[in-house]
Amino acid sequence: MTPALFTPFALKNVHLRNRIVVPPMCQYTAVDGFTTDWHAAHYASLARGGSSLVIVEATAVSPEGRITPGCAGLWDDRHIAGMAAVAREIKAAGAVAGIQLAHAGRKASANRPWEGDDHIAEGDPRGWETISPSAIAYGANLPQVPREMTHEDIARVQADFVAATRRAVEAGFEWLELHFAHGYLAQSFFSVHANHRTDEYGGDLAGRSRFLLETLRAVRKVWPETFPLTARFGVIEFDGRDEETLEEAITLTRQFKAEGLDMLNVSVGFSTPDAHIPWGPAFLAPIAEQVHRETGLPVASSWGIDTPLLANGVVEKKQMDLVMVGRAQLANPHWPYVAALKLALDRPSWVLPPSYAHWLERYRPAASE
Ligand SMILES: Cc1cc2nc3c(=O)[nH]c(=O)nc-3n(C[C@H](O)[C@H](O)[C@H](O)COP(=O)(O)O)c2cc1C
Repeated sequence: MTPALFTPFALKNVHLRNRIVVPPMCQYTAVDGFTTDWHAAHYASLARGGSSLVIVEATAVSPEGRITPGCAGLWDDRHIAGMAAVAREIKAAGAVAGIQLAHAGRKASANRPWEGDDHIAEGDPRGWETISPSAIAYGANLPQVPREMTHEDIARVQADFVAATRRAVEAGFEWLELHFAHGYLAQSFFSVHANHRTDEYGGDLAGRSRFLLETLRAVRKVWPETFPLTARFGVIEFDGRDEETLEEAITLTRQFKAEGLDMLNVSVGFSTPDAHIPWGPAFLAPIAEQVHRETGLPVASSWGIDTPLLANGVVEKKQMDLVMVGRAQLANPHWPYVAALKLALDRPSWVLPPSYAHWLERYRPAASE
């Protein structure tokens, strides 16, 4: 019998060859939002490894929406050609090309992780003004106080999401993930840690949901009906008020579903540095399962699902439909092949492209023992 991890999955008109996904992972190597040769090679290598869906990193809908100066963007038509090359490489390897569209909000204007991971110092010309629902800093390594967004800012950012979505379609992507997680702009509207507004975009759950629902609705209008429209959403913070946050997140997810969302990538909020996250193998799997159970929406998730047995287990137990394997695939882009060997898939080498597979049919790398 085919192991659960290697069973196909279909959403809208898109067919995935297995349940292994490359989650969005920033490369911080773009220049003015333009992808470089690095991106084409990096994404080609991951797609050739055998994952069914490769989601391109958080791609900014405006220059101010980048996390760092090295983040990719789709705020200009001139960005389309580079992203189209990336999408072509992914599809040529038999994977589905996805992209995550993002605005970093108060976590923008930061140094690359390996250059400090903190806000670019005030006065440094590489930095820029950040915006957020309220003028409240994230804190810790990100102390910059953002400017509170006006209604004009809100409308402009939503229009930026729509324009970037159009460009993503033009670039050839067939799977869209809106970044509503990780303490970036959309998550900040939802979070009581970041949103202290007293107008219709803050306050009760309906107010804190408004920006996300309006953005989703606007994007839905321009994203093709035949392709999956998904979002990554932090449904829990591990900040001591988890029951309430999760309940609110589930209520909002039901509304996402009613507005045409096809899948939720269940993640953590990261809206406060004062969280106690229970890092561990597949620690979010029970939460993903709960979101699926209570909303009926297909779910994906990640975080510490890095061994073939763990990944196969969460699909087998129906905790999630798709498994996002991040760092383990950076460590070994052929992780799906290793998983196929471990799970005794019939003809494991055929997870790889034929030009590798033929030679590996009767050869077992020592590393797989
Ligand atoms: C280098 C790197 C960059 C990341 N960039 C993003 C990103 O652009 N968008 C996002 O939603 N998550 C991002 N993440 C989080 C991953 O998508 C993933 O959820 C995380 O690595 C946990 O999965 P893992 O334990 O399999 O690595 C990033 C993670 C890494 C390691």
